[in-house]
Amino acid sequence: MHNDIEKVLITEEEIRNKCKELGKQLAEEYDGKFPLAVGVLKGAMPFMSDILRYTDCHVEMDFMDVSSYGNETRSSGEVKIVKDLNTKVEGRDLLIIEDIIDSGLTLSYLVDLFKYRKAKSIKIVTLLDKPEGRTANITADMVGFHVPNEFVVGYGLDYAEKYRNLPYIGVLKPKIYGGEE
Ligand code: PRP
Ligand code: MN
Ligand code: MG
Repeated sequence: MHNDIEKVLITEEEIRNKCKELGKQLAEEYDGKFPLAVGVLKGAMPFMSDILRYTDCHVEMDFMDVSSYGNETRSSGEVKIVKDLNTKVEGRDLLIIEDIIDSGLTLSYLVDLFKYRKAKSIKIVTLLDKPEGRTANITADMVGFHVPNEFVVGYGLDYAEKYRNLPYIGVLKPKIYGGEE
């Protein structure tokens, strides 16, 4: 375990098993269709890669890079498009892939945007859901794990751009982000 991590919440193996389970569900859901999977960079990168390898149907992949946290532990509330999709959304079955829903601001912004662009359907799959953090009215169609109201990192999730490469989800020691011990 990395020295900055207080405890591991979800292990590498638990994540892999969940990706297999969710991938199977997605393959059933989109059987005979050609959905457009939208990975929300940067956090969703490992989850998207793992879940889609277990999704046994045709799927197109594209990426959106939006950011609302900067280097803070709390959302600024302002969503910035850093990189837009290259693909036309109109008439497509969209699957938005996220690492975590916290306040829900990122996703509610994206869902509104894709509705405006006339997506045929929009579904959300997220590895983690932190319901206590919610301020926007948004729910995912598929959730891997619920997490408590703690600052979690790893498997795509960062603090100040670090820890995304950890293979597990962990809780950061408070002293790392200037909290109490
Ligand atoms: C994080 C996370 C989600 C979003 C969730 O992304 O990856 O995309 O925040 O928070 P919300 O529900 O409160 O909007 P971030 O903006 O930190 O960008 P990143 O993925 O590049 O780390
Ligand atoms: Mn993100
Ligand atoms: Mg971040």
